[in-house]
Amino acid sequence: MDFSRFDNHFGEVDLEIERLLSGEPEKLYKAARHITFAGGKKIRPLLCMLSCEALNCDKKDAVKTGAAIEMIHTFTLVHDDIMDRDSLRRGVPSVHEEFGETTAILAGDLLFSKVFEVSDTRAVGILAHAAAEICEGQEMDMEFEERDDVPESEYLLMIRKKTAVLLEAATKAGAILGNGSEGQVSSLAKFGLSLGMAFQIHDDILGVTADEEKLGKPVGSDIVEGKKNLIMIKAKELLQGDERDEFTRILGNGKESDIERGIELIKNSGALEYCMEKEKDFMDDATNSLKDLPDTEAKKSLLELANFVIRRDS
Ligand code: IPE
Ligand code: IPE
Ligand code: MG
Ligand code: MG
Repeated sequence: MDFSRFDNHFGEVDLEIERLLSGEPEKLYKAARHITFAGGKKIRPLLCMLSCEALNCDKKDAVKTGAAIEMIHTFTLVHDDIMDRDSLRRGVPSVHEEFGETTAILAGDLLFSKVFEVSDTRAVGILAHAAAEICEGQEMDMEFEERDDVPESEYLLMIRKKTAVLLEAATKAGAILGNGSEGQVSSLAKFGLSLGMAFQIHDDILGVTADEEKLGKPVGSDIVEGKKNLIMIKAKELLQGDERDEFTRILGNGKESDIERGIELIKNSGALEYCMEKEKDFMDDATNSLKDLPDTEAKKSLLELANFVIRRDS
């Protein structure tokens, strides 16, 4: 997908965020800016602005809230890398790696605090609710590391909370700022939620199959960290005999040297194909949610963006 036509959208969001991220102590603000401007895709603010535009309103009404949502997202990534013990993010050392854990925790808190300064007041409740659900989802994700078996239904609830609710908040807030009717707000919210589910499943797939340099974050770490994402759940179920025992031993053993074998076992198991089907189902739900919205350029872009989500390689 050619994102250059959204340069203006991204530029306005960046301006808002830049404005908020200068102050002292310098180290703290430097840490907050570190991955903020390291080249994230900015899908969430784009979803917010396009949802507003899809209702024939000007994107300017959604820029500040889009910036707020991107800051929530960035804050969760900073803290997530501490929790997941990952040292690479957006192609640069993660914030705790570069600035230490204390400053990274505070940089995340700072990003989150600024959300309430910048968001449109009509969206604050939606964002606060989403942020609380992200905490719940992250706690589930971490608790799953300690469990041997996690059913698919629990995984789906976990990704709904840790990821999909923020995409839902983006489209829902955009629709509200675009003065949408109750039905339009609900359609766009559903679109964001289903897209978010597909987005996280695709992210899990990339975490096993992508090129690390292109992805800008570690590949294979989910395996040795013992993440119970859908790929791991399915691979464990589909592998048989010795291969299943071997995969169970590798999952969560913390040994980087076992990553390559873990990936090989996953690829042989058929789990990736299963996950691709699943993300396609969520994508179809997302697409269907928009069927009653008027045909606009922005709606076309939302559908294009949805397609990009399940085809992207980074
Ligand atoms: C990564 O999100 C984390 C997830 C919720 C899956 P993105 O893929 O949107 O990350 P950036 O912002 O482009 O780096
Ligand atoms: C990212 O989750 C953080 C949130 C969704 C809150 P993951 O741990 O699954 O994503 P990456 O792979 O580190 O980006
Ligand atoms: Mg995580
Ligand atoms: Mg992570």
